[in-house]
Amino acid sequence: MSNGSGRLAGKVAIVTGAGASIGRAIALRYAQEGAQVVPVDIEERTAEETAEAIRAAGGEALGLRAHVGRGEDVDRIFTETLSAFGKVDVVVNNAALTRGIFKHVLEIDQAWWDRILETNLTGSFLCSLRAAQEMAPRGEGVIINVSSVGATRAHRGLVPYDACKGGVEAMTRALAIELAPYGVRVVGLIPGTVFPSLDGVPQEAIELSSQTVPLQRPGLPEDLAGPAVFLASDDAAYVTGCFVPADGGVLAQQRPPIAEIFRVEDFPRVGPVTGV
Ligand SMILES: NC(=O)c1ccc[n+]([C@@H]2O[C@H](COP(=O)([O-])OP(=O)(O)OC[C@H]3O[C@@H](n4cnc5c(N)ncnc54)[C@H](O)[C@@H]3O)[C@@H](O)[C@H]2O)c1
Repeated sequence: MSNGSGRLAGKVAIVTGAGASIGRAIALRYAQEGAQVVPVDIEERTAEETAEAIRAAGGEALGLRAHVGRGEDVDRIFTETLSAFGKVDVVVNNAALTRGIFKHVLEIDQAWWDRILETNLTGSFLCSLRAAQEMAPRGEGVIINVSSVGATRAHRGLVPYDACKGGVEAMTRALAIELAPYGVRVVGLIPGTVFPSLDGVPQEAIELSSQTVPLQRPGLPEDLAGPAVFLASDDAAYVTGCFVPADGGVLAQQRPPIAEIFRVEDFPRVGPVTGV
């Protein structure tokens, strides 16, 4: 593939939830940077579509259907990756249930909680465990766990989801210190609000982002791809046990601009600065 810097040349990367949005953007970018990529998704068609897009651009990819919360599926991800590419250098735990999961806590039951945890927390653990088992004996490797601003700033209607992301962040730190002596880095990536694309997104939703996000726009999947390349690359060789937010500045602020006392409209007008 062309246009990349080759920062991931020679590396083999598994990206879960790579059939859509953020996972797909990371998988495509990893391939562009020279990695052999295994896009995994619970939807076989979308996993294969991402793999096909990589191959069509001249890269190497193996699309796999798997449920990351099921041990036998996770074993198969690693067996087939090793069989196709011989090693695993990078695992991005990106798969998660994100749609249709808003519900008030007074209306959820254990089945609801269990279903979300199975994918969003157990899935990341099982893939991390298998990754660690492959990487530790080789003395190298990177596990990237995709978290959410919800790990530290709660959403309404997402108690199980936010609990999973808090767990993902705690697990990331815990894995990082246990795996550091083996040369395996474990890091996290924190998206803010990300739309798969702006096509068809109502103007009000885009404007809401500009009123709540310091960088004044919603995130796009590609906004996560660059940080994911950095974390997977040797440029991040001394980075472990921590998180890179790619959230437009949301975690940095106390209040969104729309609720701020000192308004963006009152900022000095010094040039072609977005919004002021
Ligand atoms: N989009 C956002 O605004 C946002 C914000 C914060 C964090 N995140 C996190 O980023 C990651 C990606 O989010 P997204 O917006 O691209 O989500 P998405 O729903 O668009 O894509 C998730 C992908 O994971 C797949 N998937 C779901 N369950 C699976 C399973 N059990 N096994 C394998 N694949 C499975 C889905 O089929 C889908 O292709 C998630 O971890 C999410 O929690 C997203």
